Amino acid sequence: MCDERKAALKALAEADPYYPQFHISPPYGLLNDPNGLCQKDGEHHIFYQWTPVGAVHGLKYWYHLSTRDFITLVDHGVGIRPGDDYDSHGCYSGSALVEDDKAFLFYTGNKRDEQWQRDATQCLAVMDGKGNIEKHGVVISNEHYTEHFRDPKVWKEGDHYYMVVGAQTSELKGGIALYHSLDMKQWQHKGMIATNYPDFGYMWECPDLFTLDGYTVLLFSPQGVQDDDKYRFNNIYQSGYLLGDRLTKDTPELVNHQAFAELDSGFDFYAPQTYEDEQGRRILIGWIGLPEIDYPTDKNQWAHMLSIPRQLSVENGVVIQQPLSELMAMRMDAAIVSGMVTLESPAFELEFTTSALHFELMIGNEAGDQICLSMNESEFTLDRSKMTECFASEFGEQRFIVRTEQCQNIKLFFDCSVLEVFLNNGRNTMTARVFIRELSFLTLSQGVVGQLFNLKKSRYVKPEGGDK
Ligand code: FRU
Repeated sequence: MCDERKAALKALAEADPYYPQFHISPPYGLLNDPNGLCQKDGEHHIFYQWTPVGAVHGLKYWYHLSTRDFITLVDHGVGIRPGDDYDSHGCYSGSALVEDDKAFLFYTGNKRDEQWQRDATQCLAVMDGKGNIEKHGVVISNEHYTEHFRDPKVWKEGDHYYMVVGAQTSELKGGIALYHSLDMKQWQHKGMIATNYPDFGYMWECPDLFTLDGYTVLLFSPQGVQDDDKYRFNNIYQSGYLLGDRLTKDTPELVNHQAFAELDSGFDFYAPQTYEDEQGRRILIGWIGLPEIDYPTDKNQWAHMLSIPRQLSVENGVVIQQPLSELMAMRMDAAIVSGMVTLESPAFELEFTTSALHFELMIGNEAGDQICLSMNESEFTLDRSKMTECFASEFGEQRFIVRTEQCQNIKLFFDCSVLEVFLNNGRNTMTARVFIRELSFLTLSQGVVGQLFNLKKSRYVKPEGGDK
């Protein structure tokens, strides 16, 4: 693509009132999963799946950003580029492992033949201390699964490296394969991780496995799970976790785990990945978007964004999510608000504490287009049936979660066309894309007093020493 075309596409995206101010979004084209999350020498590295040529799932690259504070982002451009034989049809999702001054980037090489048969392999690229990334080719070829074999997540225990990979068995069931290595080059297949869910959808994408607060957490995004329960499985695909005691390695099993719990109960959230930062915090970033759904910004040749970073902990057998504390530095000013509030910025944070039986929060425009979050004694409802531009309506326009706490500290981040809400004191989140033209005010029902902060726009800078 020539530079003029790139500049025109970037300008088109930025002129879109739905283009976010502080959520990571593509310069143009389509963003999906977060990849290769890690922190190295103080700097957080965030890669994401990127199709440059439009709001379509086309040839995937890894786009690379880094940041120290989540406000100023260094834009490194493309980090991993497809085009070798083994990744001729895309560099699919994967993860990072930091060792010495290097980040080892594992990803899926997606290759198709003339019959469009897929050959998926797990590949390695290495980012050196100067930020140069070099591809090292295939480290695992697919000997055990169908063509659905992707999204490696790697970690280290003592001298041992482990990798989980999302995989489909020959019976067409989704699961997670475990591999072991002593050098990150030779990998031994240990088998599918046994869980209480041998028949839970046809594919588990984007697995992640980590220990947190005494538990072993297995995170993944299953496809093909359906349920009539109004609180669960309402989106085309889900993401969630199993909380267990430990992972056995020789005969892989997640021992003594609880039921699958969804990570986010909103409309648009998928393929999250976590990493442990240099302070030992477990940080999660998700893709705010879903596969196979058309979004209103597609016509402007850009789509999707990443969630804000969320710090995880486990309390009473539930994963708690809280916005990363660094985000407080985005706050520009504070106002105590109640009733009807005129919005001065489309990028704001609202926080309030309430023990009331009911409340209602509406964000909308003069024409009556709105999104509404309400709570009663037993549940929360997020209703996006009255937006200017509704979409994916076949999956329903309301989402519900059970109210588990009497006293609620609610945190909400709004950014042009996206809402992320933290409810039940972090036990639940609801993430939604919101398409309301000329957004102008919010109203809080009587008795609710909140703190409203307008938020800074992210700043993008070029890396020192120029583009790679
Ligand atoms: C999840 C996913 C991954 C895959 C990537 C391709 O959204 O389908 O399984 O690696 O996207 O972009």
